[in-house]
Amino acid sequence: MQVPLLDLKAQYATIKEEILPEISNVCDSQYFALGPWVTEFEEKIAKYVGCKYAVGVSSGSDALLVALMAADIKPDDEIITTAFTFFATAGSIYRLGAKPVFVDIDPDTYNIDPSLIEEKITEKTRAIIPVHLYGQAANMKEIGEIAARYKLVIIEDAAQAIGASANGVNCGNFGSYGCFSFYPTKNLGAFGDGGLVTTNDDAIAEKLKSLRDHGQKPRYYYNMIGGNFRLDSIQAAVLLIKLKYLDQWNEKRRKNAAIYDNLLAESVVKTPKIDEGNVCIYHQYTIAAPKRDDLNKFLSDNKIGSAIFYPQPLHLQKCFSELGYKQGDLPVTEKICDQVLSLPIYSELSNEQIEFVAQTILKFYNS
Ligand SMILES: Cc1ncc(COP(=O)(O)O)c(C=O)c1O
Repeated sequence: MQVPLLDLKAQYATIKEEILPEISNVCDSQYFALGPWVTEFEEKIAKYVGCKYAVGVSSGSDALLVALMAADIKPDDEIITTAFTFFATAGSIYRLGAKPVFVDIDPDTYNIDPSLIEEKITEKTRAIIPVHLYGQAANMKEIGEIAARYKLVIIEDAAQAIGASANGVNCGNFGSYGCFSFYPTKNLGAFGDGGLVTTNDDAIAEKLKSLRDHGQKPRYYYNMIGGNFRLDSIQAAVLLIKLKYLDQWNEKRRKNAAIYDNLLAESVVKTPKIDEGNVCIYHQYTIAAPKRDDLNKFLSDNKIGSAIFYPQPLHLQKCFSELGYKQGDLPVTEKICDQVLSLPIYSELSNEQIEFVAQTILKFYNS
């Protein structure tokens, strides 16, 4: 049996008949950048997330960048975030000349540890970017209280968390900005790059719309400097179709996760810990495993896909060396980077495939 980490072809097969005619409609319209599909997508996804506005942009990375630009982040401003995330979370901060300030993570959820945030706040701190890692909301209650106390902007990196919630509130709705990615491998994936910024603030929504189009408003008049962060019509058309299935796909991922949880319960690996009140969308199902690299190879030898998100924490990346971090600064993050392994969790997996993955893991530790 083969079990790839992700099988996008299996998902495509279920919606191909709907997708192809709609792409053809976009081609017939010759409307490619922004336009009616993007507007309809923005309306529907805002409703889905439960926020007032959604602004379609070119990628999750650009969603973060444009949100930071809209928040007027300037060189030397400090932004608190996690080092256990995809590069773009901190890369977007650095690109504006601002400084990412990394805080260690909770050893169970791997999200930023709110109890360590306050000691990193200085007079230069302007914002917090919590990441809802692997599809589970960060502790937004505590983060929200800290942000309110110090008047900090919250920019959620919800790239991995479309449809996730905490205590009935959807990710993308906790901060002033919610940033999403529609990279093809995401739970809601486009046929190329795409992203979104959500907000409940009228003025912020207007600013984001202007910034994604070079800062113009009206056309060819520029009051601020933005960029080309527009979302394509074809991507919006694909996303509109996929959005109809997102809840059922996420539900199936949760069922798959429950099977793994059960089969691995007595093993030495640590299965994901979901905080009370959280609905996780399992963008990744990530275990912490002793002898992780050997297990990774053993799974690969048995034709099972697995991946390490992320092998090197951001505070130790060469490109951030001038920030002055060293090994040992974020002990939990560093330890977890050596242990995590993400298993196949996509919604088209069969129970047999999940059982095969779990049995192969048990076999590795019993041999
Ligand atoms: C946590 C996180 N932030 C930001 C991004 C960037 O999104 P994109 O790849 O759409 O630019 C990703 C995508 O992998 C992500 O996982």
